[in-house]
Amino acid sequence: MCGIVGYAGKKQVLPILMDGIRNLEYRGYDSAGFAIIEPNGKIKSVKSVGKISALEEKINGTEVNGTTGIIHSRWATHGGVTEANAHPHHDCSGSIWLVHNGIIENYKELKSHLVKKGHKFTSETDTEVVAHLIEEIKKSQKLTLPEAVALALRQIKGTYGLAIIDSHNPGQLIAARNFSPLLVGIGDGEYLVASDASAVIKHTRRVIYLNDGEYAVLSPDGFEVYTLSSRPVKKDIKQLDWDMEVAKKDGFAHFMLKEINSQPEAIENSIRGRLIADEGMAKLGGLESIKEKLRDVKRLHIVGCGTAYLAGKVGEYMLEEYAQIPVKTEVGSEFRYKKPVFEKGDALLAISQSGETADTLAAIREAKEKGVLTLGIVNAVGSSIARDTDAGVYQHIGPEIGVASTKAFTSQVTILSLLTLFLGRQRAMSLVMGQRIAGEIKKLPALIKEILKTDSQIKKMSQKYSKYGNFLYLGRKYNLPAAFEGALKIKEISYVHAEGLGAGEMKHGPLAMIDNNFPSVVIVPKDSVYEKNISNIQELKARGGPVLAIATKGDKEISKLADDVIYIPKTLEMLTPVLAVVPLQIFAYHFGTMKGYDVDKPRNLAKSVTVE
Ligand code: AGP
Ligand code: GLU
Repeated sequence: MCGIVGYAGKKQVLPILMDGIRNLEYRGYDSAGFAIIEPNGKIKSVKSVGKISALEEKINGTEVNGTTGIIHSRWATHGGVTEANAHPHHDCSGSIWLVHNGIIENYKELKSHLVKKGHKFTSETDTEVVAHLIEEIKKSQKLTLPEAVALALRQIKGTYGLAIIDSHNPGQLIAARNFSPLLVGIGDGEYLVASDASAVIKHTRRVIYLNDGEYAVLSPDGFEVYTLSSRPVKKDIKQLDWDMEVAKKDGFAHFMLKEINSQPEAIENSIRGRLIADEGMAKLGGLESIKEKLRDVKRLHIVGCGTAYLAGKVGEYMLEEYAQIPVKTEVGSEFRYKKPVFEKGDALLAISQSGETADTLAAIREAKEKGVLTLGIVNAVGSSIARDTDAGVYQHIGPEIGVASTKAFTSQVTILSLLTLFLGRQRAMSLVMGQRIAGEIKKLPALIKEILKTDSQIKKMSQKYSKYGNFLYLGRKYNLPAAFEGALKIKEISYVHAEGLGAGEMKHGPLAMIDNNFPSVVIVPKDSVYEKNISNIQELKARGGPVLAIATKGDKEISKLADDVIYIPKTLEMLTPVLAVVPLQIFAYHFGTMKGYDVDKPRNLAKSVTVE
């Protein structure tokens, strides 16, 4: 969820805003814009679709004076990628302007209430309701801007990082945070607000971090931080000791590590507002328009590439077991060239983080040609796959910068579990089963947080296994695709050969490779095939093969058998891939960094494969 920069102080603000937003470009975005309070009290705003350079071209030569302003790079979630939808957004009076990172979940009901009050909207975004809501409260209750902001935010459900200016209060900047990172830079008689330190560090290293549910009022007289019930909060000023590059990664050494560690938040964002736990249901707004058509779907073709394909394979097991829908999962590069057999009642589900993968896109077009209903699970809003499918579910995890997919996989599998709930409850899934699954999905962010704490143990494992040049990654059922995903991670990050394999397939050939120089990573949670996996580990050990097991916390037996064990918390069998893949991501990360490779940009690879 992209970039915010705000400034209030004595310097000309435009160069500060442009420089700051350029430092946030790495976060990925689709449009940008700024608003500045000019000396005559008017607001000058310029917005553009595309790169920051397009915004610069639009301003080129225009004199924009002013010492208070905000700028934004948008990663669209609600409303297409258009100039009108680019931020900043403003109220009817044109005095309150703001930029937002995040998602206003209840924007539809707020918007209809405000339209009834006569407010005129100029965009399709969720964000714009915030400006009109503040205006409505300020006017109707005769409040100051900070008071109106606090009351407005208490009515909002969802996530936000906000920077707000008011042409009637030049020099004042309001910042608010709820689940979208935002920090405040404290300069000498000047303040900055930004999504991360890389946009602040040039001006000051003195920062305060807002917590969720807090807002800051910054003005020439000083700064105050409050809770939404307007109780003052004392904040310690921190000293930033990062350099610019580290700041972009929130202090992590690589984007991949930042994204591995952001998975609890990513899953939170993927399920936010989509679980009705007490009804054991999933609410997927993007599928509402075809809800009745989905009731009649008799078979699902899932198509994706690489990690997205593997997420789809996990979904295949889920949907067949819990929604009784026959599923066929294929890679896009095969699907598009074979002669796919479609029957009445078929639908195609495309999975893609970038939404631009050529082979997946071609598969969709093939299906549409034959009149097949097409759905998408996509991260990039407004991407080709999002536009080409009849309906879909956005991942809402913000851009994934590292070439190796990490948070995209766990988010896609989680959304597939929501889709399983959605379709299963349309079919034979009981309320009790639905509630059980919904309850376990809600726990995933906390369970991943637990695994992330074992990073140093996993790093030691990667050091111990770094002498090997070949690996088997083994799993069964839900964890067969997870084993393939683990193998893919270590291949693309450390260029070491690793083969994903169904554990039951070993004795049909691959076992011949096993000796004390050929380790296996086995995903062996306490699930319906645990005993079978244990037998496979015994077969490996009998040939002297080293075994690193991914096992369920509390399993004492496994440590007597495997050479090393990384434990993951207990969850439903269908959700174990979301947890099992995390240690494998961390293992691959340390493996690659130990070899000195650029784990964010592995050789020969691109983040989005837009060619065949
Ligand atoms: C996996 O780590 C790679 N990034 C790659 O396999 C990727 O999953 C594949 O290219 C599909 O990309 P998409 O999700 O953007 O369609
Ligand atoms: N939900 C807002 C929009 O779609 C903000 C997106 C962002 O975080 O950039 O405009």
